[in-house]
Amino acid sequence: MRAKLVAGNWKMHGCLPDNAKLLAEVIDGSNALSRAQQAVCVPFPYLEQVRGMLRRTRVAWGAQNLSQHAKGAYTGEVSGAMLRDFDCTYVIVGHSERRLLYEEDNDTVALKFKAALDADLIPILCIGETLAQREVGETESVVDAQLAAVTNRVGAKTLASAVIAYEPVWAIGTGKTATPEQAQAVHAHIRKRVARDQSAVAQELRILYGGSVKASNAEELFAMPDIDGGLIGGASLNAAEFVAICKTADR
Ligand code: 13P
Repeated sequence: MRAKLVAGNWKMHGCLPDNAKLLAEVIDGSNALSRAQQAVCVPFPYLEQVRGMLRRTRVAWGAQNLSQHAKGAYTGEVSGAMLRDFDCTYVIVGHSERRLLYEEDNDTVALKFKAALDADLIPILCIGETLAQREVGETESVVDAQLAAVTNRVGAKTLASAVIAYEPVWAIGTGKTATPEQAQAVHAHIRKRVARDQSAVAQELRILYGGSVKASNAEELFAMPDIDGGLIGGASLNAAEFVAICKTADR
């Protein structure tokens, strides 16, 4: 049985005092959980603050991006080993905002995925289609290509040490959530695809849904057989919402 995971993606939000208040409330809420796992993926400068507050709690933490390189003359970049220095468990890889705004293509994402594994981080690999792609029936071929770029480079077996997040681009920050049935169909497709190469890995693989998840829609999404939790943007900045989503995942 796969334990559900709820991960917050703070994106470029936060400041020291607001983070402290949010984290204190998230820690408090996490004490009521027994099964579901929780994490927050925060901007790099707050990793030390998050480490200080979250160690010895049930809440894990991570970053939102990393360099594909291990070290070198890459001004402004952050390596996987640096994230390990701050005891990160997770790192988001290939978020659609990175793909669209910073032109990260499938090959770059695959290299970042490998860099995360090399640094003993658990990559949360984001895949998902745009509205235009969905409307012309390309959803499955888009997620297949995004996944294949990674598995062709590092092998499908490595998904045993990773998490996938299906995030339809049209549902991110728009208030438009995929219906539970729409999300389930893509999650089932992803799992079947992985099972073609690695059936045991596919059974254990956590596939999170991301895109306008809120306390009010988490229950019906998490009830779907192939939805193993969520990657939460806006609602992860609101402690009551985030805690409520985590509690839903704990049922
Ligand atoms: P929202 O929950 O704000 O739609 O963002 C989803 C997301 O991009 C998580 O990575």
